[in-house]
Amino acid sequence: MHIIAFISGKGGVGKTTLAANVASALSQRKKKVLLIDLDPQNAQRFHLGMDPDEIAGLVREGIAASSIFDSPYGVSFIPFGRVTEPELEDFESQLKANPRWVSDGIQSLSADAFDYVVLDTPPGPSVYLHQALVAANRALVVILADAASFATIGKISALVQEYTVDRADFFGMYLLINQMPVNGKLGHQVRTALYANYASQLVPVAIHRDARVAQALAYERPVLHYEPGCKASLDIQYVADWLLNSTDP
Ligand SMILES: Nc1ncnc2c1ncn2[C@@H]1O[C@H](COP(=O)(O)OP(=O)(O)OP(=O)(O)O)[C@@H](O)[C@H]1O
Ligand SMILES: [Mg+2]
Repeated sequence: MHIIAFISGKGGVGKTTLAANVASALSQRKKKVLLIDLDPQNAQRFHLGMDPDEIAGLVREGIAASSIFDSPYGVSFIPFGRVTEPELEDFESQLKANPRWVSDGIQSLSADAFDYVVLDTPPGPSVYLHQALVAANRALVVILADAASFATIGKISALVQEYTVDRADFFGMYLLINQMPVNGKLGHQVRTALYANYASQLVPVAIHRDARVAQALAYERPVLHYEPGCKASLDIQYVADWLLNSTDP
């Protein structure tokens, strides 16, 4: 089982979208994939066409065989769940008290149940990021090719180091550029700076900005299922193949 955390310093960069789509691409490649929404926004369900009134999920049921849904897109899924403010406070206190809550939950699943576990997180430092990094074998930092994203890499990288230090089963942090403009000088400059500073950590494909991504969300399905041949879908499949080639459990 290989655990991949989608993380970012900056919000709205595409973690939730890419987590759902990479999970879906891995499952199309005949891998058993579990996607866990570790974000109180509880938005991952929209990408998988789950019932918005479904309140069961991570907070109320934990990580267990009984809390896993089968999504229509081949990916097994644990939503965050719809919770009240007091429930959220209790849950976060529990996470603070035990940074291994998510990791232990995943390890409690039968060892051959899943090949990949994909974790979606909220942006920036949080108890959820901490949990995700304690559990993960690999972190994918989603960034845009802009100066604001570039500026957050140092901080998120320090958190990754802090939470994964001395772990032989952590295979590193990789930068995944999303919403790459087809043209654009600024994007080009940032990419040049990324190569200069982080060449060995860059995922060898960037995801293009593609209107089909937002359209797919409106239809509540992964873009891979909405328009398999569009630019973003092809990029996402390349990322899944890169993961398979470097991690196949
Ligand atoms: N490659 C892309 N092309 C076009 N639009 C995209 C692409 N990736 C993401 N988006 C759009 O960007 C918006 C933000 O995406 P998403 O919710 O996945 O980001 P996020 O990092 O999970 O946000 P948050 O930090 O709030 O959790 C969405 O409207 C999504 O449809
Ligand atoms: Mg998100």
